[in-house]
Amino acid sequence: MSDHKKEIDQVTGVETTGHEWDGLKELNNPAPRWWIIVWVITIIWGIGYWIVYPAWPTLSGATEGTMGWTQFKELEESQAEIMARQNQYLGDFQKATDDQVLNDPKLYAFAKAGGAALFKTNCVMCHGSGAQGSIGFPNLTDDDWLWGGTIADIEQTLHYGIRSGHEKARQSQMPSFGRDELLSKPEIEEVVDYVLSFSSDKGADAKSKGAEIFANNCASCHGEKGTGGREFGAPNLTDAVWLYGDTREDVYKTVFYAHAGVMPFWDGKLSEDAIRQLAIYVHSLGGGEGKGAIKVEAEENVVPAGAPEEAEMPAQPAAGAPGFEPAAPAVDPSAENLEGGEAHPASDSTLAPETPEVKKEAEKTVNESKR
Ligand code: HEC
Ligand code: HEC
Repeated sequence: MSDHKKEIDQVTGVETTGHEWDGLKELNNPAPRWWIIVWVITIIWGIGYWIVYPAWPTLSGATEGTMGWTQFKELEESQAEIMARQNQYLGDFQKATDDQVLNDPKLYAFAKAGGAALFKTNCVMCHGSGAQGSIGFPNLTDDDWLWGGTIADIEQTLHYGIRSGHEKARQSQMPSFGRDELLSKPEIEEVVDYVLSFSSDKGADAKSKGAEIFANNCASCHGEKGTGGREFGAPNLTDAVWLYGDTREDVYKTVFYAHAGVMPFWDGKLSEDAIRQLAIYVHSLGGGEGKGAIKVEAEENVVPAGAPEEAEMPAQPAAGAPGFEPAAPAVDPSAENLEGGEAHPASDSTLAPETPEVKKEAEKTVNESKR
């Protein structure tokens, strides 16, 4: 550009750079002063930055900078801090009995948050993201349990699974009454009608033919009154909660072919702590039995005051309780809401401030335990 003749623009009186496009010429105005000042400041800032922080690549890494700061160090420090706090919870959690966990808001929140995170990774594909289940996969938020709903029951289910192939798995098999010709088709019709009548408005007719067939073939597992048998994982047939569908056809098929749902075992796949956290989480979802069962005063599914602490829950859900059928589960289906303890006003106030922090730590436990 140096060879261009000095040329002054007629209109502005400013020198041009000599660049021209279709008759338009570029003026050679100086850069604004404020711009120059900012530019110089950034250069000075940049030099300062090189000195203070790691900047120049070297053969073995980078110049250290006078502050000695690195992102690795920062990460390590925060990791160490989190681990220390988490180990404190984990240590307490391991030492505490279930009762103690239930009575310690921090540990309870820690267990539930860890369980919720584990549930998302391991259980939602079968039980649904809100644990509300679907055909063949039980709803874990209601008080209708196949195998039992105390923390210990749930923990056992999780450890060994159901028909999972584990030697200690919960095991049982309903006979295929139709396929194996244990009952004739008309007999199956009779007994299906009888089973359906349990949850109908009319009620069951104990003198019917179906009643007799039921007593001889089904009562041993499902109980004389059809209220279920937990030693066999035999569902309660009187509560209008159906694992395999509620139409006459569904029930007929179940009796004709039988079902044998498989729940995998987690022994050896998840750590002891993780399984326990999961059991406590599932127990907290709304249907938990025994110690620590939620007494939901504000919600519709009120557990009657003075309900038996241990042992069986009443077969029929309390009047107006949301059952399995209306797609709405007992508690808000989004796990986020569940783990925040929002469904449990009683414990909420104490837990709320702790939860996000405890939750993060618990999630770390999860990642640890997966290794
Ligand atoms: C491959 C699908 C599958 C996965 C994954 C799975 N489950 Fe299950 N689960 C089932 C089935 C099917 C049943 C019902 C078995 C039966 O019919 O008795 C069941 C039953 C249960 C029960 C017993 C319910 C009762 O009424 O007694 C609990 C508790 C449970 N699951 C919790 C979990 C948890 C927690 C996880 C994640 C760690 C999980 N499940 C993962 C399929 C699964
Ligand atoms: C050996 C024990 C056993 C006997 C006997 C038995 N059942 Fe079952 N029944 C079960 C089990 C276990 C299940 C649950 C299967 C599963 O979870 O996969 C079941 C499930 C059912 C279901 C499905 C319930 C639901 O919620 O969808 C119906 C209906 C049923 N049985 C009816 C009968 C009838 C009728 C008879 C007699 C003709 C009978 N059962 C005999 C063990 C038994």
